[in-house]
Amino acid sequence: MAQEKYEPVERYIEKRFWGAHMSKVQLPTSQQKSILAWIKKPSNFLVMLGCPGCGKSFTAIAITRHLFDIASKKIQYPSIFYYPQGKIYEEFRELYHNRWSDEPIKKRLSDALLLTIDDFGCTRNNEWQAEIMSQLIDERYSNKKPTILTSNLNLDEIEEKFHRRVRSRLQSRENLIISDWETDLRQEGL
Ligand SMILES: Nc1ncnc2c1ncn2[C@@H]1O[C@H](COP(=O)(O)OP(=O)(O)OP(=O)(O)O)[C@@H](O)[C@H]1O
Ligand SMILES: [Mg+2]
Repeated sequence: MAQEKYEPVERYIEKRFWGAHMSKVQLPTSQQKSILAWIKKPSNFLVMLGCPGCGKSFTAIAITRHLFDIASKKIQYPSIFYYPQGKIYEEFRELYHNRWSDEPIKKRLSDALLLTIDDFGCTRNNEWQAEIMSQLIDERYSNKKPTILTSNLNLDEIEEKFHRRVRSRLQSRENLIISDWETDLRQEGL
């Protein structure tokens, strides 16, 4: 597996998001209260769906960092991870390439205190990838593990790409689903 050069939470965060912090986040007004409540007591899924450029990654990263900072005050190395979905597949591919077991990474992702998966469903999926992702969602859902997902897809498209079981779990009433982001911030010069 890739050597850990940075704190796991920062490993896959790109330069563009180095400044992503809660103080700068602009939440959709109608959902502000519920997102802040989720952050105060993370449980189950926070699902952010919306058009390209509306600020999902920025927000997901800012929340992940914020929760990492809070957890770090209580635990030395909190298992809080941020992954663009493609990087999860890359890590699995590397293991398979070296004929190593995928059990440790499966456990790491399933057990993480907080797992953020950015760009969910945005890369092409083959069967083993869809299977890994469906299993992971199921594990985290079953154990009510705080999980943040962002995607350009809507729930119908997520169902098409993965499985109805994934959609059903994401759509659970215990989750917070935000889908009313509208502005493409990239067109506004951000
Ligand atoms: N609150 C903010 N303050 C400053 N810059 C922001 C903020 N939110 C987003 N941005 C910037 O706006 C751009 C688009 O945001 P982001 O990449 O988070 O969108 P996205 O919804 O994840 O898009 P995609 O679906 O294409 O991945 C980025 O350059 C990001 O750094
Ligand atoms: Mg993004």
